[in-house]
Amino acid sequence: MKINLNPEADPQAKIIVALDVPSANEALNLCDRLPQVSFWKVGLELFIADGSTILRELKARDKRVFLDLKLHDIPNTVASACRVATKYGADFLTIHASGGKAMMKAAQAEVQGSSTQLLAVSLLTSISSVELQSDLLVPLEIPEYVAKLVLLAKESGLKGAVCSPHEVTKLRSLLGDDFCFVTPGVRPLGAAVGDQSRVMTPKDAIAAGANYLVIGRPITAAPDPVLAWDQICKDCL
Ligand code: C5P
Repeated sequence: MKINLNPEADPQAKIIVALDVPSANEALNLCDRLPQVSFWKVGLELFIADGSTILRELKARDKRVFLDLKLHDIPNTVASACRVATKYGADFLTIHASGGKAMMKAAQAEVQGSSTQLLAVSLLTSISSVELQSDLLVPLEIPEYVAKLVLLAKESGLKGAVCSPHEVTKLRSLLGDDFCFVTPGVRPLGAAVGDQSRVMTPKDAIAAGANYLVIGRPITAAPDPVLAWDQICKDCL
């Protein structure tokens, strides 16, 4: 599949809502309350609880699916997992760039020609610069290390990455216009920041160069998720 790098003028097509809930039942309740959402993210918790059920149900509802598994293992294991994910019809699937070029190339070879597009995860935003240098022994500053990993992903044949909206402008200038950037860490004005440390509004993230935004709790944990969704779509214009 070719990634749609400019998902229409319609801001709704740019928003991926994170289904961070512990069961398929809860996830499907949210989907049914928000039929206007076309793109959902399934993360580790939901996948481990009810993976095949939720993926089948989302596809039966004609939804796009971001399968956020952040795979990281030896090349053969990750490639095999990616091959199975293509059968689920996932549209996006994450793998860790720090798994290395051989792992990413093997994974990319398995999804080639399918509707599944791999996205590289660079450095987890939970890792601080002190941890990076003292624990992981990487003698680089975070932006430099993130750029290095995303470039490695591109050299391995991947066409997209997950990054902070604060990194996207610089990464876009390095990676070019045909690379897809998906950014979490997005908060509408006035929304609770929660555990996200560096956030940006949806409109600013799109202006900074994000192709798709991942938004979870500001919609799914809102007192009125439909109202929150409508407000966010308006804010994107
Ligand atoms: O609820 P919230 O909008 O913070 O959800 C953001 C989603 O994006 C979560 O599913 C989280 O796992 C994911 N994510 C993130 N930061 C990253 C990578 C992924 O928040 N660096």
